[in-house]
Amino acid sequence: MPEKDEDLTEIVKKHFQDEAAEFDKIIHCLVPFYNNMIGSIAYAIPFNNSMHIKVADLGCGTGNVSKNIKERFPNAKIVCIDLAEKMIEMAEIKLSEYGNITYHVGDFRDFKFDEDFDAVVSSLALHHLTNENKKRFYLQIYHALRPGGVFYNADSVLGASDRLNDIYMEKWKEYMNRNISMGKIESKWLPKHEEEDIPAKLVDQLDWLRDIGFRDVDVIWKYYNFAVYGGLK
Ligand SMILES: C[S@@+](CC[C@H](N)C(=O)[O-])C[C@H]1O[C@@H](n2cnc3c(N)ncnc32)[C@H](O)[C@@H]1O
Repeated sequence: MPEKDEDLTEIVKKHFQDEAAEFDKIIHCLVPFYNNMIGSIAYAIPFNNSMHIKVADLGCGTGNVSKNIKERFPNAKIVCIDLAEKMIEMAEIKLSEYGNITYHVGDFRDFKFDEDFDAVVSSLALHHLTNENKKRFYLQIYHALRPGGVFYNADSVLGASDRLNDIYMEKWKEYMNRNISMGKIESKWLPKHEEEDIPAKLVDQLDWLRDIGFRDVDVIWKYYNFAVYGGLK
C-alpha cells in the first residue's frame, strides 16, 4: 500500500487509464454477478420513473451504472465523474444515445457539488479511499443530497471478522477462477487488490452512514465481499 493518499490516487488513475478499453470484459470476470449488483442501484432509487432526477455517478468508469439509471429514469440528469480520462471517453461512447449527461474528469472529492442531488451513486470506486477519507466523503455526499435524496454504493467490503473474510476470499477466488487461472489470480489480481484497495468493514460503514444522519440505512444486495448499501437523507 503506498504511503500517501495522493500516491494511491495516481496508481488508481493509471490502472484505469491503461485498462479502459478492456474494462467491460474484465469486470465480469472479477466481480461476481456484476450486472445484478449494479442493477440493484437503479432499482433502489425511490422516485417516479418519469421524474427529472438529478444524479451524480462517482467513479463512473465506462458508464455502466449511469446506463442502468438512464434506462430506468430516461429524464434523469446525470453528472459522471472519473479520474481517468480514458474511462470517461468509453462512457461518452456508451451513453451517446442518451441526453442530459455531463462528464467531469477529476477526483470526485474535489468536485463542487450543488446541494440538490436526488441520488448520489457509486460502484467499485470508494474502496480506494482510506477509511478516514471514506467517512469524510460520506459526509460530503450527505450535504450534496436534497432532503429525501438517496446514496447507494456498490463496493468491495470486509466482513465483521477474520473468519468471515477467509470465507469471502475463498468464494471470491472461486468465482474469478471460472474465467481466470488461479496462477493469474494470485500473481496479478490479488496483488493489485492488495496494492490499490482499502475495503472497510460493511458493518462499520453502516454505522458511519447512520452517524452522519442517513436514514433507512441498509444493505440492498450482497455476495460475500461485494455489497450494495446506502440510505436516505
Ligand atoms: C472499478 S472502476 C468502476 C467503474 C464503474 N463505476 C463500474 O462499476 O463499472 C473504478 C473507477 O473509479 C475511478 N476512481 C477511483 N478513485 C477515484 C476518485 N478519487 N475520483 C474519481 N474517480 C475515481 C477509477 O478511475 C475507475 O474508473
